[in-house]
Amino acid sequence: MLVRLLYASRAVDTSPAAIEAILTQSRQHNPGSGITGILCYGGGVFLQAIEGGRSAV
Ligand SMILES: Cc1cc2nc3c(=O)[nH]c(=O)nc-3n(C[C@H](O)[C@H](O)[C@H](O)COP(=O)(O)O)c2cc1C
Repeated sequence: MLVRLLYASRAVDTSPAAIEAILTQSRQHNPGSGITGILCYGGGVFLQAIEGGRSAV
């Protein structure tokens, strides 16, 4: 079953390196798990939409 999750969360670590690390990990892990989505960041808050199989999401 395809599901989509949309959520907002406050960043614990707002350094550029921490945000780059999330993007790097997402780009490595998500395609192999059939996951797509977007990650937006601003003002210490993330907004992420993530879509894929129920268990993978
Ligand atoms: C807002 C946010 C979005 C994330 N999205 C993904 C993702 O799409 N794919 C993924 O593999 N990991 C994702 N992660 C996980 C991070 O890459 C990392 O593994 C996680 O924050 C663990 O950090 P820790 O080492 O402090 O426990 C996300 C983390 C955060 C905070």
